[in-house]
Amino acid sequence: MQRSRAHASIRFALLATAVAGLACSGHGPGEQDAEARAAAGIETVDDARLRNATSEPESWLTYGGSYAEQRYSRLDRIDATNVGELGLAWSFETNTKRGLEATPIVVDGVIYTTGTWSVVFAIDARTGKLLWRHDPAVPRATAGLACCDVVNRGVAVYAGRVYAATLDGRLQALDARTGEVVWSVRTVDPSRPYTITMAPRIVKGRVILGNGGAEYGVRGYVSAYDAQTGELAWRFYTVPGDPSKPYEHPELEQAARTWDPSSEYWVVGGGGTAWNSVAFDPDLDLLYVGTGNGSPWSHEVRSEGGGDNLFVCSILALDPDSGRLVWHYQTTPGDQWDYTSTQDIVLADLEIEGRPRKVLMHAPKNGFFYVIDRETGVPISAEPFVPINWAKGMDRSTWRPIVDESLDYENEIVTIMPSPHGAHNWHPMSFNPETGLVYVPAQESVFFFKEDPDWEYEPGSWNVGYDKTILTISPPDVVSGHLLAWDPIAQKEAWRVQYAGPWNGGTLTTAGNLVFQGTAHGTFAAYRATDGAVLWEQPSGTGIIAAPVTYLLDGEQYVAVMAGWGGSFPLSAGEAAKAAGVHDLTGRLLVYKLGGQAKLPVHEVREREIAALPADFTPEEVQAGSDTYHRWCLVCHGPGAISGGVLPDLRKAAPEIYDSLEAIVLGGAFEGNGMPRFDRWLEPTDVAKIRTYLLARRARMLAGDPSSPR
Ligand code: HEC
Repeated sequence: MQRSRAHASIRFALLATAVAGLACSGHGPGEQDAEARAAAGIETVDDARLRNATSEPESWLTYGGSYAEQRYSRLDRIDATNVGELGLAWSFETNTKRGLEATPIVVDGVIYTTGTWSVVFAIDARTGKLLWRHDPAVPRATAGLACCDVVNRGVAVYAGRVYAATLDGRLQALDARTGEVVWSVRTVDPSRPYTITMAPRIVKGRVILGNGGAEYGVRGYVSAYDAQTGELAWRFYTVPGDPSKPYEHPELEQAARTWDPSSEYWVVGGGGTAWNSVAFDPDLDLLYVGTGNGSPWSHEVRSEGGGDNLFVCSILALDPDSGRLVWHYQTTPGDQWDYTSTQDIVLADLEIEGRPRKVLMHAPKNGFFYVIDRETGVPISAEPFVPINWAKGMDRSTWRPIVDESLDYENEIVTIMPSPHGAHNWHPMSFNPETGLVYVPAQESVFFFKEDPDWEYEPGSWNVGYDKTILTISPPDVVSGHLLAWDPIAQKEAWRVQYAGPWNGGTLTTAGNLVFQGTAHGTFAAYRATDGAVLWEQPSGTGIIAAPVTYLLDGEQYVAVMAGWGGSFPLSAGEAAKAAGVHDLTGRLLVYKLGGQAKLPVHEVREREIAALPADFTPEEVQAGSDTYHRWCLVCHGPGAISGGVLPDLRKAAPEIYDSLEAIVLGGAFEGNGMPRFDRWLEPTDVAKIRTYLLARRARMLAGDPSSPR
């Protein structure tokens, strides 16, 4: 679809006003200038505009709102005194029922955002009208390689183009006016189980992009592509490769010394995938990238002789021109709990003990809140922000966590806090320089770990090395979530808003003394940034996991958020995720303004009648089915075949589904909708075992005993 010409000419008229305004204005970033700049056109988004994104609060130019990723807006028309009048301005339906994780980009009166299956939308920011939609046609079989739903966290914009990555590993440059593909490059080896869900970032004319796949077995890396041409500029591997081949860059020689080659870690890949966080300090000229967990999860399996396994679970400071390492800090040496450091990296200038410090703040899955000197990579402080048990504290001479060695899971089942869902996951936190507080979507959960003694590498399937046939997911009564306001200087909680469940949305904070956050239980809320008082809250139809943004158009401030429940927790946590109480799974972009009067379209959800089916099995048969089910199906359909609400609950299927299981599981009958085929690994006898288990679970549910997973 074409943008209208009338709009373009208004744009240029406003641009002229802006230039005139700048020439005679002595009033700083005044309103007129601001409005005009916002309309100055996506073609003029260049390095200078990206560097100064915070002083252009009428737009939302980058994933984290600025290179510092603070998700703080200077807009204050909506503030703590009037936010109660907030109402829906319009909503846009994405026609999807799975997770929406994107941070919308707003520039030139247009919202650029993404939905499931890496679809890109350009939407009129005033009206919600679709301007264009780009579907990169991700092969649906890719769903079988995506640990955490077929999600996407958004786009980057630069010089008239929109940059987006696809689940199957392509990076695409689109014409911002039309959505047409300008160039498209494959950034991964298609024979390996790589996926991409992150928003690309633009730094110095290059597109910075990583990837995921460490649950399946890949080797992580981050790359820089020329924004004009799509040509690869540099690539930094986060873990060493096959030692019989030359190191791609010298840092890997250092890294290889921290791995045990007798475990042949390069066969599975080692992990360390950079699947989410990137920040940039233009003054220090340093690019910060967070890396993911080791692959497989079990340290014993991955690197039998031990070692830190650099650079998994680390923050890397790279030279943005060469991609060479300047410093690194590893948050979880020798990780074995999936404690990624891919959670967002927020840059700020703080006064600590009377000294101005350039810091980065980071709250990874492992539960420590880190304040790190971003010039040197040396931590200034690190304290747990939720209860944890894997570490007993932090050694302040080495800045290494003091791991509780008694919780080794090689031979026995141990309970670990936090779970792999993390004390904080990808859901972005925000920092308000006026309150000095960081607003973290924090969560509490436990996980039962035990190494799988029979683990063997199965290319293309889950390769985590723990025993999935034990009950691996937190019982619902021990998971919870809260909005945590954290004082990074004092390293202590300032206030919290307690929620029923974890997996709540990312946060936005504004100069209006506000924090905005969507919740897992299907509301969107505004809190007073200084003390957490609930000032406004409305139902959002479905659970929100994404982070909101704000922008200014025609003198009106808007707040926008993607609403779409999904991601790894709802897929894999069963009952615990359902506790969030999400009613309607319709994916939407919700946009609010003061006095907004639009109605949220509600779609009725009808529960189907569930007929009893014969289920006369021995406990041994059920146990065998349970083991097979949990090994292969748990990550999407939930423990105990209890769905977390996003994908079908396999206890409640239509009766004919149980007779079609072979066609579905081995024949790929529903592959087009994201249900993988398992004929590489499973046989009809395995499917029969799973069928037994599912029918036994159905009978148990109908008998009124739904929650026990066995
Ligand atoms: C990567 C995620 C994923 C995994 C792993 C997975 N499924 Fe699915 N499954 C799906 C999705 C998505 C659908 C919905 C497809 C649709 O809407 O048609 C689905 C649908 C189904 C259905 C149809 C249910 C209905 O009521 O229509 C069955 C049966 C099923 N899956 C069985 C299994 C079994 C058995 C396993 C393990 C061997 C498994 N699935 C593993 C994603 C997954």
